[in-house]
Amino acid sequence: MNTDELLTLLAIAEEDRDDCLALLRGDRDRTTVNEVLDALARSFGTFDEVPLDEPTKDELTWLHAFLLFTPTLVEWHRARGIPEDVTRDTLADVGRHVAISRRVTGEFGLQTWRWLTHHLTARIFALGRLQFALQRTKVAYAGAFEEGDWVLALHIPESGPLRPDLVDESLSLASGFFAEHFPDKPVTVATCDSWMLDPYLVERMPAETNVGSFIRRFTPLGVTKDAPAEALYFVFRTRDLSRVPELPRETSLQRAVLERADRGETWQLAWGYLDLPAGTAAPSREAVSSLA
Ligand SMILES: CC(C)(COP(=O)(O)OP(=O)(O)OC[C@H]1O[C@@H](n2cnc3c(N)ncnc32)[C@H](O)[C@@H]1OP(=O)(O)O)[C@@H](O)C(=O)NCCC(=O)NCCS
Repeated sequence: MNTDELLTLLAIAEEDRDDCLALLRGDRDRTTVNEVLDALARSFGTFDEVPLDEPTKDELTWLHAFLLFTPTLVEWHRARGIPEDVTRDTLADVGRHVAISRRVTGEFGLQTWRWLTHHLTARIFALGRLQFALQRTKVAYAGAFEEGDWVLALHIPESGPLRPDLVDESLSLASGFFAEHFPDKPVTVATCDSWMLDPYLVERMPAETNVGSFIRRFTPLGVTKDAPAEALYFVFRTRDLSRVPELPRETSLQRAVLERADRGETWQLAWGYLDLPAGTAAPSREAVSSLA
């Protein structure tokens, strides 16, 4: 694939393209990029059974490696018959996060490079509205899963409304997709570890809202963790709690987040699960040869 096709596949925005091209021209230290490429290759396709090494925390070195490693991922998807639209939707998160980085910092970068390692090690797939990472649980929860069971860790990209019909469709696609492509790793449960599952939000967001309806799908696993800036980051894209007084209070979600901070309470990350529905047919199958 040529560079244009690569940047399009990764949904790199127009304003970030020149910076990506400059990265690829490579006046940075190539030794560390190669170390990152080796780390990606070791963990690749193991669904985190081989945890990823982090030879550096330099975000642009990671992005450079992601650009170089993408053809390997595409080839792996193709060899498994994964539809081209799944590959594209999955990799579009790279461009989305480069854009989020620019929105947050005003500069080209990839603050969330660690998140994108899910994608480049072939652990995560975008199926409709949601993303699903296939992984083994490290703990057991009675009635939900045993230690070592395969589950889908569910993630919500910032890609428009979280309408219940889209969530239904996505869950159903996931059941069909993983049964078809990874039959040796059977899944019946999706888990979610998110600021959105803080029980406080159930009180604040009615079931009629998209957020309210989404969070009510999950059975709490009784695991919560202090995460003071997590909701702030996802709603306002800042982790700076000192900005609470100046942030906008226009929407009910913004008010829910800020009014809690006003009271000095700490936001919680909470973990829940839901049973996957019976799967429908996988998304439209297209030849993926054009990606090679
Ligand atoms: C999750 C998300 C898709 C929900 O969006 P949605 O479908 O528009 O949500 P709803 O329709 O239920 O919105 C309910 C209210 O919250 C507001 N709202 C939703 N998301 C918002 C956001 N990111 N920022 C500010 N307000 C938001 C809506 O405007 C609406 O306000 P109103 O009641 O005053 O009219 C959206 O918040 C988002 O993209 N978040 C970032 C991604 C994320 O948090 N992922 C989870 C990571 S663990």
